[in-house]
Amino acid sequence: MTLREEIDRRRTFAIISHPDAGKTTLTEKLLLFGGAIHVAGAVKSNKIRKSATSDFMEIERQRGISVATSVMGFEYKDVKINILDTPGHEDFAEDTYRTLTAVDSVIIVIDGAKGVETQTRKLMNVCRMRKTPVMVFINKLDRPCKDPFDLLDEVERELQIKVRPLAFPISSGTTFKGVYNLYEHNLSLFTSDERQTADASTVEIADIASDELDRYVGERFAQQLRSDVELVEGVYDPFDRQTYLNGETAPVFFGSAVNNFGVRELLECFIRIAPSPRPSATETRHVEPAEQKMTGFIFKIHANMDPNHRDRIAFMKICSGVFERNKNYLHVRSGKQLKFSSPTAFMAEKKSVIDYAYPGDIVGLHDTGTFKIGDTFTEGEKLKFTGIPSFSPELFRYIENADPMKFKQLAKGIDQLMDEGVAQLFTSNLNGRKIIGTVGALQFEVIQYRLEHEYGAMCRWEPISIHKACWIESDNQEQLADFKKRKHTNMAVDKHGRDVFLADTGYALSLAQENFKDIKFKFTSEF
Ligand code: G4P
Repeated sequence: MTLREEIDRRRTFAIISHPDAGKTTLTEKLLLFGGAIHVAGAVKSNKIRKSATSDFMEIERQRGISVATSVMGFEYKDVKINILDTPGHEDFAEDTYRTLTAVDSVIIVIDGAKGVETQTRKLMNVCRMRKTPVMVFINKLDRPCKDPFDLLDEVERELQIKVRPLAFPISSGTTFKGVYNLYEHNLSLFTSDERQTADASTVEIADIASDELDRYVGERFAQQLRSDVELVEGVYDPFDRQTYLNGETAPVFFGSAVNNFGVRELLECFIRIAPSPRPSATETRHVEPAEQKMTGFIFKIHANMDPNHRDRIAFMKICSGVFERNKNYLHVRSGKQLKFSSPTAFMAEKKSVIDYAYPGDIVGLHDTGTFKIGDTFTEGEKLKFTGIPSFSPELFRYIENADPMKFKQLAKGIDQLMDEGVAQLFTSNLNGRKIIGTVGALQFEVIQYRLEHEYGAMCRWEPISIHKACWIESDNQEQLADFKKRKHTNMAVDKHGRDVFLADTGYALSLAQENFKDIKFKFTSEF
C-alpha cells in the first residue's frame, strides 16, 4: 500500500462525554464491531471510577492498566481506526485536552435524559478552538429521554455548533421503538437485548411511507415518525460533509450503547465521513501527512506503575511520512539523534512491537525520563508542533520537602511529573517557594503518592490563596515592566521561565486587566 493509501484509510479520534453518559460503553461496542475484543467488559474494567471519594489505590492500579487502553486500534472494513482514550474523571481533564490535540475528529456522547452537561461543554470549547470535526451520539434512548427536537436545540445552543440529525428516534424509554436512519433511509427496530455482542438486534425496512412501518411500530408511532422526519427535512439543511469537516456542523445519531443499538449506523457513517489525518501546524509551517519525511510529536507520557522499572511510555502521534523502527530521528528539543528498538502500537488491549507506523497512528516510545509533552521528532528539520495547550490551573498549594535527606529525589520527581503534564510548577518571586497548580484536587494526592512510591521522596502541602494563574505578555515593554514591579509579590515564573501573574481574587484580576490594557492575560499557554 502506498503512503497515500495508508493515510486515507486511517481515522484517529476520541470519544468525549460527561462522566456516565456512556463513553466507555460505546468504546467497547465499537471495539466489538472491529473484532478487537470479544467480550463485553474488557474496556470497562479499566476505567477510573468516578465516585467523589475515589479509592486512590484503585485509581493508581487503573492508571497502570490504562496504558494498554490509552490507544485502541482496530480494523473495520479495511479502515484503520485509532480510538484515543480520555480519562473519565474530570480532575484529569487536562489529559483529555492534550489528547484532543492528537485526534482528527471527535465523537461526543450525550445522555438523552440529561442533555448537555458541564464537562461536555468544556471539552467542546477545545474542539471549537481547534475546529475539530465532531459527531454527536445521543445515548440511553432505552430510558425516558428529553424530546429529540429539544435535545437537538440544546446541543446547538449549548455546544455552539449547528446540528444535522442523520438518524431520528421513535419515542424513548419503555416505548422506544427504534431509530430511522436518515442517512441510509432505513429503519432499525429496537428490541432490548442484553447480549451485547456485535450482532445488533435490528430489523430493516426500506420506506417509512409504507404500511410496513405501521406493522412494526404501530400506527401512532408510525405517524409520529413521518411527521418528525418531515420536520427534520424541512428545518435542517441537507447534510453537507464539508461543513462537518470544517467543524461547523455536527451530524447527530441516536441510540443505546449498552444495547448495542444505533452503534453500527454511527460507525458506518463515521468511516465514510470522518476525516483521515489532517495537516498539523508547526511554528514555521503546516505539515502535510503525505510528506515523505517522518514527523511526530508527543502528546502524552505515561509512567510505568512497576516500582522496579521507572521507565515511562511516551505516546507519539505520527503527523507525516513513515515511522520506522531502529531508524534515527532528530529529537528537536535536545538536538540529539535517537532511535527506537521497540516502538509499540496498540491494537485493542494488546500492545505489540511494530516496524512501521503511518500518519494518524500512535506509537508508544520507551522513555527513561528524557521526553516532555510537546516534544517533536523529525528527520532533521527543526520543527515544533503547536497547539498543545497548558491550561491555567485552578487549585494551588505550596509544595515543601518533608524529608531533608531526599531533596534530590523530590526535585527529580517534581521535574518528571511536570514533564508528564500531571500539574504545573511555579516559582514565586516573593519568596522563591514552589507552588503546584492543578486543574483538579485529586492531582495533589496523585503527586504525593507518586513522589513517595516512584521517587522515594516525601512532600507536604501548604495552603496558598490564589484565585487564578495567568501568563502575561505584552508588546509594551514599559507597561510590562511596570506591572511586574507593582505586582512583584504576585508574580511567579513557570517551568519554562515565563512570567505568570497569580491573582489573589477575581476582582484583583479584573482590576489588573482594566488598568493594564496593553498586557495580555492568557489562560492557556502552549508548551
Ligand atoms: P462513561 O464512560 O461515559 O462514564 O459511561 P459508561 O459507559 O461507564 O456508562 C455509564 C453507565 O451508563 C453504565 O452503568 C452503563 O452501563 C450505562 N449505560 C451506557 N449506555 C447505556 C444505554 O444506552 N442505556 C442505559 N440504560 N444505560 C447505559 P453503570 O451502572 O454505571 O455501570 P454498569 O454497572 O452497568 O457497568
